[in-house]
Amino acid sequence: MAVIALTSAKGSPGVTAAALALTLTWPGRCVLAECDPAGGSIQAGYLAGALPADRGIRELAVAELRGDDLRGEDLRRHWWGQLVDLHPPHRQRLLLPGITDPAQSGTLRPVWEKFAEFFAELEGTDQCDVIVDCGRIATPNPPWPLLLSADLVLLTLRPDLPGMSAAVPAVRALRTQLTEQGAGAGPLALLLTGGGDQSSRTVARELATPVVATLPDDPRTATVLSRGGTVRTTSALMRAAAGAHARIAGHVTARRDAQHPDPAATS
Ligand SMILES: Nc1ncnc2c1ncn2[C@@H]1O[C@H](COP(=O)(O)OP(=O)(O)OP(=O)(O)O)[C@@H](O)[C@H]1O
Ligand SMILES: [Mg+2]
Repeated sequence: MAVIALTSAKGSPGVTAAALALTLTWPGRCVLAECDPAGGSIQAGYLAGALPADRGIRELAVAELRGDDLRGEDLRRHWWGQLVDLHPPHRQRLLLPGITDPAQSGTLRPVWEKFAEFFAELEGTDQCDVIVDCGRIATPNPPWPLLLSADLVLLTLRPDLPGMSAAVPAVRALRTQLTEQGAGAGPLALLLTGGGDQSSRTVARELATPVVATLPDDPRTATVLSRGGTVRTTSALMRAAAGAHARIAGHVTARRDAQHPDPAATS
C-alpha cells in the first residue's frame, strides 16, 4: 500500500503503541521502522528484551558512516538482516529496531534520506508497506526526510483540549514543511488515541485536518504493547487498529488519484 509515518506534537499520546497495533494487524507484509530520534522502545518493551540488541538502525547507520553508500541493492542487502520477525516464522510483520541512544540521532540525517528513497521502493520491489514511528516532531533531529516523503503522515494525539492545543503548532509546522517540499498538505491527517472528551468531528474542524482513525482507550492492551505479553486480537484496541486499514488505504489511494488522475476516468 504505502509508507505511513506516525508522529506526535509532544507528550506520549501513544504513537509507538498505535504503530505496533497497526503493524500487528496489517493485512499484508509490513515493516515497522522505529525512526524516533529519542530512541526505539519496542525491543525493550513489547519484545521484553527477548532478542539480541545488535540489530536495527544503528547497524545500518554504522555501515553508512563506514563509507558504504547505502542505496538500492546495497541497502536492500543490509536491510533484511536487520529486521526482527514480530510473528515468527512468517516474516510478514517485521520490526527495524530504533537507536538506543538519542545522542546518535544527530548523525542519522543521511540515513533518513536514504531510507526515504528506499521505503518508497519497497512497495513495488518487495510488496512491503512501511509504518514509520517518527517520534515527536519537537525533539532534536526529527526524521524530516521520512515525514516529507511518506504517503500519509498521521499526527497522533489524544482527543482532548491539551492534545489539540499541542497539535496546533505541530499541524502548522508539518503543513509548512510539506507545502515547501511540493507535497501540499494532502498527506497530513490525524490519528486519535486513548480517551478524550472531544469528538473526532470537533478535532478535525479545529485543526482543519481530517481524522483518519481513532484508537480507543484500552490500557490493558496498550500495556501489553508497551511492556510485553500476549496481545488479544479481540481487544478493543486491536479491533480498531484492524478496522483502520481500510480508511488508511482509502486516504492513500485518494491522494495518489488526486496527484495522478486516471485520464481514462475523465474522458
Ligand atoms: N490507546 C491507548 N489506550 C490506553 N493507553 C494507551 C493507549 N496508547 C498508548 N497508551 C499508553 O500511553 C503510554 C505512552 O504510549 P506510547 O509509548 O505508545 O506513546 P508515544 O507517543 O510513543 O510516547 P513517546 O513520545 O514517549 O515515544 C503507555 O503507557 C501506553 O501503554
Ligand atoms: Mg514512542
